[in-house]
Amino acid sequence: MSKNTISGINRRQFIRTMGVLPIVSGAVVMSMCSAGCSEDATSPLTGEKVTLQLANETTLQNVGGYITRTFGANMNANRPIIVIRTTQDKFRAMSTYCPHAGGTIGISSSTKAICPNHGAMFGLSEGNFAQNVGGQSTTAAQTFVVTYNQSANSITIAF
Ligand code: FES
Repeated sequence: MSKNTISGINRRQFIRTMGVLPIVSGAVVMSMCSAGCSEDATSPLTGEKVTLQLANETTLQNVGGYITRTFGANMNANRPIIVIRTTQDKFRAMSTYCPHAGGTIGISSSTKAICPNHGAMFGLSEGNFAQNVGGQSTTAAQTFVVTYNQSANSITIAF
């Protein structure tokens, strides 16, 4: 092996390879981002599920009732979510992470949530759930599918 080789690759080949690598990896990242990258506006869905027994969730026993709770690292990245009962047999869940600039969305009434940072408002009703309904303009907050099991009197949230 000559002094111009590194593990059998000569210096010219090595430099050529290292010069191409950042271009290739940059192109891969850019193609992934064009499919929807943002500054963590949405946490990746993980496939985790959490089941809540409604007998233990007194505020979810009535329409308009809600909870705000954190479930763990694989469930909205340790950020709280809002779970609300929108009708007698329908529940909805959304992240409290504000898609505008990362503030924490809080509930102001049973029909609206607000981010205190710049005033973005999000609907909490059927038909506008998690949509930006006023204040600072932004995209919808991330939602999670909630399945109601009437016979078990439970809901399952899929992250
Ligand atoms: S960060 Fe929520 S409105 Fe700006």
